[in-house]
Amino acid sequence: MFHYKDNILHAEDVAIDKIAEAVGTPFYVYSSKTLSDNFKAFENALKNAKLKHTICYSIKANNNLGITGTLAALGSGADVVSAGEMHVALTAGIPADKIVFSGVGKTRAELKSAIENRILQINAESEAEINNINDIALKLGIKANVALRVNPDVDAKTHVKITTGKKENKFGVDWDEAKGLYLKTAKMKGINLVGIAMHIGSQILDLDPFRLAFTKMAAMVEELESAGIKLQNLDLGGGLGINYNVELPPSKDDYAQVIAQTLGKFNKHIIIEPGRAMVGDAGILVTEVIYTKKMGERNYIIVDAGMNDLVRPAMYDAWHTIIPARKTGAAPITADIVGPICETSDTFAKDRIIEPVAQGDLLAMMSAGAYGSSMSSIYNFRPLVPEVMAHGKKFEVVRKRTTYEQMLSGESKPSWIK
Ligand code: LLP
Repeated sequence: MFHYKDNILHAEDVAIDKIAEAVGTPFYVYSSKTLSDNFKAFENALKNAKLKHTICYSIKANNNLGITGTLAALGSGADVVSAGEMHVALTAGIPADKIVFSGVGKTRAELKSAIENRILQINAESEAEINNINDIALKLGIKANVALRVNPDVDAKTHVKITTGKKENKFGVDWDEAKGLYLKTAKMKGINLVGIAMHIGSQILDLDPFRLAFTKMAAMVEELESAGIKLQNLDLGGGLGINYNVELPPSKDDYAQVIAQTLGKFNKHIIIEPGRAMVGDAGILVTEVIYTKKMGERNYIIVDAGMNDLVRPAMYDAWHTIIPARKTGAAPITADIVGPICETSDTFAKDRIIEPVAQGDLLAMMSAGAYGSSMSSIYNFRPLVPEVMAHGKKFEVVRKRTTYEQMLSGESKPSWIK
């Protein structure tokens, strides 16, 4: 919940400038209320659609313990894509039997750890991976819970870099080969074949691609059942979009209704893996204006956040609404809002209409909760920024700014240098 009170931007009941004073800029701040509202909205939507379900929050969207811990306390599961994310999920208090593990390139070590932890399911994406899982499971003497991630060849109509469900994408098992692979996998002694999974893309703003993909899944489930393969879990992935600018994303209720209409008849355990729709609007990146300058006709607002802190504009030409922490009501100007990093891609907004700002003013980049901090880096040797969580009138640092010592720890000069 981010809103103006007396022209001052607040995270819940905390004024943004108060947090800036305490932790310095730039920083991320999350609203625990928005986060839990989002979780509950998914929960209620699935409940109202009469679906047995587990919400497996997609940790990659934001792996901060403040976020994952809050979701764990609400009863969320997790979708993880690395042993590291699995570690975070378990540390946050998410039980192993609510964790699904996706990804095209899981290593043997990662698979071993997933099997040992007895997670809800490993979403296998190739025959080679299935063979690996079986082999490791037999050695461990533990049956691995496995679902096959199938590629439904559906166009999610989203940004090319985040579409995943087309035949030409690297994800999942080819649709036409899926049944054959199921039959083979069903015979493997180390595998407990529990489900089917898909994920068609991210920031999806239209329910049609979901409907199409889920309808295809229903046909596959029927085909498999008639071949004697009974599945318990239908994992539909994530992908529900959010509003960044003028988008009109489908509601969580309508999304759940599409699931019910296409897959409800099986009365199976539905898994969804929302990331962005869970945390996207629950976080903002706050930055301070370092300089303003005019070059010819162009106004530049130079801020202390860089593309290393929020890479989405540079990487996907993504739009983040940028607003002042203190509204003045002055007539807006057109400006480019840029970071301090030494390349032109370090641009948050071009030709943006915004109230004039001055050195020292604070700006907020909205809807930065998903794929903001989790994609950040220390490029230009810039420390990872603090993350703060607001809760009513309270706020707490849930990640401290990294120090140079921490950033250099683990590095050393080679021994042959005198
Ligand atoms: N499940 C799987 C298997 C995924 O690959 C993803 C996201 C999700 C769930 C969560 O999707 P969501 O609900 O967040 O759309 N960095 C990009 C987004 C990459 C999404 C990758 N996969 C961005 O900043 O837009």
